[in-house]
Amino acid sequence: MSESVRVEVDGGIATIRLDRPPMNALNAEVQGALAAAATEVGERRDVSAVIVYGGEKVFAAGADIKEMEGMSYTDMADHSVTLQHFTRALARIPKPTVAAITGYALGGGCEVALACDFRVAAKNAKLGQPEILLGIIPGAGGTQRLARLVGPARAKDLVFSGRFVSADEALSIGLVDEVVEAEDVYAAARRRVEPYVGGPAHALRAAKEAVDRGLEADLETGLEIERMLFASLFATKDRETGMRSFVENGPGKAKFEGR
Ligand code: CAA
Repeated sequence: MSESVRVEVDGGIATIRLDRPPMNALNAEVQGALAAAATEVGERRDVSAVIVYGGEKVFAAGADIKEMEGMSYTDMADHSVTLQHFTRALARIPKPTVAAITGYALGGGCEVALACDFRVAAKNAKLGQPEILLGIIPGAGGTQRLARLVGPARAKDLVFSGRFVSADEALSIGLVDEVVEAEDVYAAARRRVEPYVGGPAHALRAAKEAVDRGLEADLETGLEIERMLFASLFATKDRETGMRSFVENGPGKAKFEGR
């Protein structure tokens, strides 16, 4: 595991901790380590949910501009695959994920947050896609995931202008889900995913897959994805446990095994 990206597991929740001071700039090494961390937490049976956290001061100020400055078109044509791959790997973690955002979440940093299921931001957070100010556009999924989350007009406003939005504005446009005091961000992110520890892991995986894959397809294809995933859950022990528990003891008392 990289020095700049650590995976810490506590109480069924993995924290992917970005640690590359001063701004957690995402160089190629960090991008690769984030993809590896996403694969690790996705596969580990002792992990039910995931927090992506950049520490108390900053989430991440984007891809490493100093690393990119000297790159040619052909360099970037090769590297841009990796650039999209690491946010895709985060988005495909088959478990509930939340970004705990303090300070700046810009460019690739905002794109990391967009790859999570939920975003909890500190009051001092500033989010944005300022790539246009560098003469480029977002390259780690920003134009696609931002538009899907907040709608095309708001995404174009942010991507065309490169302006930063405050935590309150981010909340009002649906870019973040919750705003808390800076010192409470990590705890609030934990509170958001704690209910999923000990949950029916395969049903949660199917729910995430159905929403995310369905959004990429037309309604009929999405409904078919849902139908197949729904039926597949009848092969799980958790489905038997959940229904038997309801019949014998009423709703919400099942103890799931994630099998
Ligand atoms: N890459 C490399 N270094 C960065 C960086 C980045 N994205 N962001 C900040 N830094 C560095 C600064 O160069 C500076 O380094 P030095 O001390 O060596 O000069 C250090 O971090 C501290 O930064 P500032 O002095 O600028 O701190 P500030 O508080 O005045 O401003 C900031 C903070 C608003 C985040 C500002 O640094 C900034 O605008 N950063 C760039 C944000 C950006 O454009 N992100 C998009 C990157 S491109 C991208 O992400 C493409 C993609 O889609 C994947």
